Amino acid sequence: MPKRLENLMETFEAELQAKFRGVLPEDTAWQAAQYSISDGGKRIRPRLLFATALACGADGRNALPLAVALEMVHTYSLIHDDLPCMDDDDLRRGKPSCHIMYGEATALLAGDALLTEAFAVIADSDLPGDTIADAVLCLAVAAGHNGMILGQVLDMAFEESDVDSAMLQRMNALKTGRLIIAAGNLGWLCGSRTKPFREAFLPFFHALGVLFQVADDILDVISTEEDLGKPIGSDAENSKTTWVSLMGVEKAKGLAKELYEKAQGYLRRIGDDTQYLSAILDTVGGKVI
Ligand code: IPE
Ligand code: IPE
Ligand code: MG
Ligand code: MG
Ligand code: MG
Repeated sequence: MPKRLENLMETFEAELQAKFRGVLPEDTAWQAAQYSISDGGKRIRPRLLFATALACGADGRNALPLAVALEMVHTYSLIHDDLPCMDDDDLRRGKPSCHIMYGEATALLAGDALLTEAFAVIADSDLPGDTIADAVLCLAVAAGHNGMILGQVLDMAFEESDVDSAMLQRMNALKTGRLIIAAGNLGWLCGSRTKPFREAFLPFFHALGVLFQVADDILDVISTEEDLGKPIGSDAENSKTTWVSLMGVEKAKGLAKELYEKAQGYLRRIGDDTQYLSAILDTVGGKVI
């Protein structure tokens, strides 16, 4: 990964940890949040956020609070996604899931706390007031009931049901794609904004978001618990409709390749300074194609 991005990621990890400094001994929700957010994540969303800010002429440092906020929202979604009432997964990021370590009630509250704190982090940042307002709206809408939450609702509704590829694509675009797109949009907000997000960047992030979930579905079948840091075969156990259940591993890999090439094409159209985004796309695609 290019050096500028790695430097930003180091600062990001330090800023993230700073949010847990001085946690009260009785505040088990925030301790549980720190446990879940601290290690083992691939950090793809903050990377994408910085990579987009860099592609838009920013130095990326102004994007730090937005990257921290986004990783908080993502981590909350994982903590809740693993709960027994949802996917019931005991392993996350290579360690026992939050509810296994802290119990269900505390895990629920840890997720709530991360989601709420994310917006405080943005509001408390040194960004211009209008950027703060835009960032809050972007993240709230992406994570909310017409975004990621709706995706999770559909994910559950699609268990053991007759789903076609258009329905699955919509579910993926919501449950996974919306936060991936938010990463790009938040990074873009920190830059020069000379190219419009919708026309220049959105097609790339849309393709990447769906590719990410197609890859996640394939890896649930072909990878190992050690490599993924989460249980293998969870989707089949929960009778989820996934790209693999719909079309089999080989066809799903073909779809991943198609999406990867599409995303590459969209990147070429964006033009300058997309080397960071391109490196991330290769990491996501490289695992399954
Ligand atoms: C997992 O996300 C949930 C999905 C949207 C597929 P990641 O694969 O980015 O999880 P971490 O952050 O690396 O743990
Ligand atoms: C999770 O999708 C998406 C969100 C958390 C919003 P999955 O249920 O497929 O993610 P994993 O496989 O548990 O990481
Ligand atoms: Mg799930
Ligand atoms: Mg899950
Ligand atoms: Mg999955």
